[in-house]
Amino acid sequence: MSDKELMQLAVAERNKSYCPYSGFSVGAALLCSDGSVFCGANIENASFSPTVCAERVAFFSAVNAGKREFVKIAIAGGKKGEKSDSICAPCGVCRQVMNEFCNEDFRILLGTEEELKSYTLGEILPLSFKL
Ligand code: THU
Repeated sequence: MSDKELMQLAVAERNKSYCPYSGFSVGAALLCSDGSVFCGANIENASFSPTVCAERVAFFSAVNAGKREFVKIAIAGGKKGEKSDSICAPCGVCRQVMNEFCNEDFRILLGTEEELKSYTLGEILPLSFKL
């Protein structure tokens, strides 16, 4: 699957976000090495800390389905109900979750309907912690 196609899935996934508190919807689409794709949107909570980011919903869905090897993830975010106007970088917790299952060459695609930037996990999480 091309980077652009994966980003289109992430953009569409934003519609599934439950974000009544921030009004910020995020979608993620994760490509597994067997070609399967798992998507996720952010799910918020009145108590705030139980909120889960789109990236972790996608990762945990995939891991729960038995997937362990991943190629790349596309992420898109912005004001709910609007086209995103800037890229949305993954939070530190999500970077650490990626680090659990991926090598430093795992690719992270950040974009909107129009633009697409590609990074590696090694670039955005240098000197990472692993046991
Ligand atoms: N959020 C994500 O889903 N992914 C990110 O990479 C950054 C933040 C969500 C969490 C929360 O629901 C909303 O965006 C505002 O922080």
